[in-house]
Amino acid sequence: MTSLADLLAFYAEAGVDEPLEELPVDRFVAAAPTRPAPTVEPDPQNVPPPRAYAAPVVPDEGQAVLARERAAAANTLDELKLAMASFEGCNLRLTAKNLVFADGNPEADLMLVGEAPGRDEDIEGLPFVGRSGQLLNRILAAIGRDRTSAYIANVIPWRPPGNRTPTPIETEICRPFIERQIELANPKVLITLGAPSSRTLLRTTEAITRLRGGWRTFTTQSGVEIPTMPTLHPAYLLRTPAHKKLAWRDFLEVKAKLANLT
Ligand code: URA
Repeated sequence: MTSLADLLAFYAEAGVDEPLEELPVDRFVAAAPTRPAPTVEPDPQNVPPPRAYAAPVVPDEGQAVLARERAAAANTLDELKLAMASFEGCNLRLTAKNLVFADGNPEADLMLVGEAPGRDEDIEGLPFVGRSGQLLNRILAAIGRDRTSAYIANVIPWRPPGNRTPTPIETEICRPFIERQIELANPKVLITLGAPSSRTLLRTTEAITRLRGGWRTFTTQSGVEIPTMPTLHPAYLLRTPAHKKLAWRDFLEVKAKLANLT
């Protein structure tokens, strides 16, 4: 029989980590302004329009346009982080605990981009700190790198609730930010970790099994071409350890490329 502790652990894993009331609350009604009772009869010719009140933004192409403008206006990584922290056009930020911007050294010649933060990353506000992150650290160590010599970010900077797959519009809204982050960090080589990151940044629908291991190019808005190696995601490697040797090959390719570029 499932114990209460098991049930709570299941909820926590699914992203349900806040105790709420027993009955649902309609927050639209709760957020609506209350008006004092009028002391005089209102003039029907002169009724003011209802006041606007803050409500969650519906993610749409308009938010993606706004994200592009905000990302383009940022001239440094610090400005970009501030722009993202104040951006309200992505609904994922409503359920996330923290913005997960980046970890590592922004001056590094190597940048890695994952998909989206998980539970541990959301709590710490840093990418790849959970189990996949520990494996990523070991892979990086195998090519003589650590977080002082690599810069790490995600396509989506807010944890999707319960680790669900981000929707296509959520990805389009977040895309300008990660693209600008790559442009501002200006690494010599980029690694895309897993299918969602590889497909988003390389604008392809190819399977990761076909994509991985072959050099591609990420082109920034200003036209800088960055050699990019798509590879398998560490979370996938944890589930499929037999494929670690493929990722190992990809990282050795990257090591050789970086040695040739310097
Ligand atoms: N998986 C990702 O893609 N990114 C993280 O930061 C953690 C796990």
